[in-house]
Amino acid sequence: MINWKTVGELHVIQKLKKVIESWYGVELFYTDQHGKIQTGLLEKSHEFRSHFMKVQMLMPHGHQYIAQDIETIIDYFDENPDKSSFKFSSFFPHVKGYAAKIVIDGELLGTVIAYPFVRDTCTTDEISELISHVKGLGVSDSDAEMAVDKLKKVSDTQLTYITELVSLVAEEVMTFHAEIQLREERISALNSELGSKYRYHNMIGKSKPMQQIYNLLTRIATSEATILIQGENGTGKELVAKAIHYHSPRKDSVFVAQNCSAFNDNLLDSELFGHVKGAFTGAVKDKKGLFEVANGGTLFLDEIGDTSLSMQVKLLRVLQEGTFLPVGSTSPKKVNVRVIAATNKNLKEMIAKGEFREDLYYRINVINVTLPSLRERKDDIPVLCDHFLEKKCADAGHPVKTISPRAMEKVLDYNWPGNVRELENEIERLVVLSGDSKTITPDILNPRILDYLDAKSGSPLSGPLAGIKATGTLREAMEELEYFMIKEGLRRCNFNKSKLAKELGISRAGLIQKVDKYELDKRALKKASGED
Ligand SMILES: Nc1ncnc2c1ncn2[C@@H]1O[C@H](COP(=O)(O)OP(=O)(O)OP(=O)(O)O)[C@@H](O)[C@H]1O
Ligand SMILES: [Mg+2]
Repeated sequence: MINWKTVGELHVIQKLKKVIESWYGVELFYTDQHGKIQTGLLEKSHEFRSHFMKVQMLMPHGHQYIAQDIETIIDYFDENPDKSSFKFSSFFPHVKGYAAKIVIDGELLGTVIAYPFVRDTCTTDEISELISHVKGLGVSDSDAEMAVDKLKKVSDTQLTYITELVSLVAEEVMTFHAEIQLREERISALNSELGSKYRYHNMIGKSKPMQQIYNLLTRIATSEATILIQGENGTGKELVAKAIHYHSPRKDSVFVAQNCSAFNDNLLDSELFGHVKGAFTGAVKDKKGLFEVANGGTLFLDEIGDTSLSMQVKLLRVLQEGTFLPVGSTSPKKVNVRVIAATNKNLKEMIAKGEFREDLYYRINVINVTLPSLRERKDDIPVLCDHFLEKKCADAGHPVKTISPRAMEKVLDYNWPGNVRELENEIERLVVLSGDSKTITPDILNPRILDYLDAKSGSPLSGPLAGIKATGTLREAMEELEYFMIKEGLRRCNFNKSKLAKELGISRAGLIQKVDKYELDKRALKKASGED
């Protein structure tokens, strides 16, 4: 669809229109593909450039005559797709016009029309014929005579100019439309790339922190560097490790995972590095370690914070030199393995306590991916719920269930210490407990969740609002909330009041009033935080 109003406002088009109208005494106007006139021509206030046109519009059926001409033009373009312009004869004998078509993607979307004029070859008899014709259509004799008299008598050369200029207008409209379309496409492509990426590999989440993680993962996709993934339990560390592997150049090779806290040192040793026959009682044959199994691929060392100091030395060696000794062997093996490590422990603190080697820490932490807890990205809870509901219902052979708004409210209020894993387990549990019911109601939520919310209900506001009183008058509470939202908002928007006013849905003046009322201007806030 063409935005005709914007087209009419384009500087270049206004200029061309002015030139055509003043030189040739015609009206220049556009119609859409249905022949509907898209300029002010039909409005009462329209100032006509052409006296003839003005008189025509005063005739009882003047509008119909022009509509009829436009219909002829559209029909002509429909029937002659290879023609881009049309010199037409109007309803009035000897009166002419010129039309150019507007075509976008092969589709006729409108026309540009210059009308009316007569040819300078018109004879006196022909002009008289025209005058008497006009006189018969409900206008005064003098009006009819004046209208015809003022019609521009166009020579061949002038006609060439008119055709060129009108075609130029049509081209400008098409170029402008194409540019707008391109810009809109670019904007929507950027939007979908930046704003609303909803998943990356198997990870779900569209919150800001997850968008940042996706961006980071995209940037490091082709890197071979060792990566340390940190985050609380159940935040998706293993999922991220897999996503990294399957987006890396090693994606066609193996991904091997080992949980370093699952075994004692000896077992882990032989699990990771393998052993030779007879290395220890029960070692009846050679066994390949995971470093060898993962050769050419990726080895995921989960819970690396749980390894002993002596294991850390061996890991450092294989990371630095690419070589290791199988248990009981004296000849080192060389491998090409990309290591991704993960932990939910604070390795920095462990280093300070002498429980983790600093050199290994720097060796594995070449790229750091720290995953946000679910509490820090509550925006993702609804999409995660939908995702797990779909999956768990399909597994259980149920049609997809939904969570009632009241239950969702509680799900959102809970603090999810076990993060996404806890949410996933809870959804699985709810799918089972809800039986044949299509909707999941609050009463079947895990008692753990309900207890948590009960305990909190002295101060039912959670997250950043915790601490705001839920007692006293409503007005006081509202003011407290208002104060808090403005204070936080100002910080977040870097004191850009126009931006914050927009976010809060109030006027800028209204916001400034409130900032004054609560003494929240930049200086006061800086002072307050300095004193804190
Ligand atoms: N962003 C996510 N989108 C979808 N599912 C997720 C997401 N994050 C985690 N999960 C799911 O949650 C569960 C836990 O994820 P994962 O095992 O990767 O977490 P983790 O951080 O390694 O946990 P832990 O520290 O307990 O080992 C998995 O079933 C995983 O599929
Ligand atoms: Mg894990």
